[in-house]
Amino acid sequence: MTLSPALATVRTAVPALRCPDCGARPTLTPTRTQPLAGGTFGLLRCACATYPQIDDIPVLRRGRVDSQDHLTGRCEVAGPTADELVALLEADRPLDALVALLAFPPPAPTSRPGVRLPFTRGPWPRVALAARRAEVRGMLARHERLTAQDWMELAYARSSDRIDDELLPYFLARFGQPRFLATASLLQGLPEDRSRPVLDLACGFGHVAHHLAARPDPRAVVGVDRNFLQLWVARRYVAQTQRFVCADRVDAMPFDDDAFAAALCSDAFHYFDAQQGSLDELRRVAVADTVLLDRLGNARLAPTDGPLERDPSGYVRLLRGAPWRMTCEDELLADYLAGYGPQLASPRHPAELDSAKWLMLVTSTDDRVFADHGAFTAPPHAAGRPTLNPVFTVTRHDDGVDLAFRFPSTWYAFENAAMRGYTSAGERVDADTYAALVAGRPTDHDAELLRRYVLLGMPDRYRRAPGVPGPSVVGGLVRGLRRS
Ligand SMILES: C[S@@+](CC[C@H](N)C(=O)[O-])C[C@H]1O[C@@H](n2cnc3c(N)ncnc32)[C@H](O)[C@@H]1O
Repeated sequence: MTLSPALATVRTAVPALRCPDCGARPTLTPTRTQPLAGGTFGLLRCACATYPQIDDIPVLRRGRVDSQDHLTGRCEVAGPTADELVALLEADRPLDALVALLAFPPPAPTSRPGVRLPFTRGPWPRVALAARRAEVRGMLARHERLTAQDWMELAYARSSDRIDDELLPYFLARFGQPRFLATASLLQGLPEDRSRPVLDLACGFGHVAHHLAARPDPRAVVGVDRNFLQLWVARRYVAQTQRFVCADRVDAMPFDDDAFAAALCSDAFHYFDAQQGSLDELRRVAVADTVLLDRLGNARLAPTDGPLERDPSGYVRLLRGAPWRMTCEDELLADYLAGYGPQLASPRHPAELDSAKWLMLVTSTDDRVFADHGAFTAPPHAAGRPTLNPVFTVTRHDDGVDLAFRFPSTWYAFENAAMRGYTSAGERVDADTYAALVAGRPTDHDAELLRRYVLLGMPDRYRRAPGVPGPSVVGGLVRGLRRS
């Protein structure tokens, strides 16, 4: 697709965006070539900088746009620099800019010391990266037929051995996790204001953004994260109607004051170095300073998610005296399973939560946020298209299909042990029902399978059909090399 020069400058796709350094609102100049239907690539200019915008996602980062470990910030995959991305866009090569951000290098063919050496230097890594770039170009050419799972597998199961392969089940099988149910419950407590979006800081793959788009009372979301691949998968597959921004400075949010109805940070705040600055910023950009800090690690209980966790009163101190309520994942989950939303009316002493590992802190100057929520009108985990929960393995028989609960890894089992308490251990369905489930057609069993967490609401193009394998590392690269 090529734009006419008449469309020289347009407004950025993200409302209330401003440069985190000079505070000016950037102006977008689209590239002449627009390689993906429905997304705009271009240059965002403000008083002090030029930033890339890649497929509607402003990249407000300086230096290398690496993919970074969630907890430590360590570089897992070295990315292009922001200046290189700008140069590619100036040269009207927007697809090359996107490929540079999505093509994580493949792993060395062996991890054995000595044997591995020739695969880590010399021509091999360059050839392997070129093949991976060709593979990604091929995937982009048929991106409308792919799923979020295809891209998650590319990044976490077929890429650099510096990436923790636990990340694949951690994100792919997220919708049925205890933490997700607790988050969906907490989100019932968002303020009523629908005139502004909700900010989701450290949004990952946009699971929350999907939920808020698909629930009966939908809400617009702007998701921010530093890892571009996650945002792009969110934007194209997980929450296509929501907006995303790539930015890494949690204490310099690139938005106007009061731009959001509320600001959320889920399962990430306790990783941040700049927690005070971040909370101040989250409050600045939200009307009535309404902030939901979801799933904060309590430093009193091991194992910890890194060294920056605080105890309950430590998180409360960051509020500088603002009103607050605190609850925890166990309480939210118990109420969720009983069919009820969050109970936020009663003030508590932080010490009451000292023995809870995962804390939820809600703050607002609007008292109406501190309410006890009643029974759900629909189970929140049903929001979206009913899809088979990825923790079920599928075995076909002559007279039907067995679905069996299997934790995907030991670490996943440790982190999500509570799933056994509410998820079916196994089901047998007839072949027609199974075919309908996989095709996304409604069946008479949907309500019961949703009640037993065998089905979960998910985005339309989230999972491949169960039993259809993705390519191997070599298969994907060979396909890429053939194509190039
Ligand atoms: C455990 S994941 C949670 C993702 C998402 N909130 C969810 O619940 O599905 C933590 C996220 O925090 C992001 N993150 C960590 N530090 C960040 C920073 N300084 N700026 C932006 N994102 C950050 C990571 O990239 C990752 O996506």
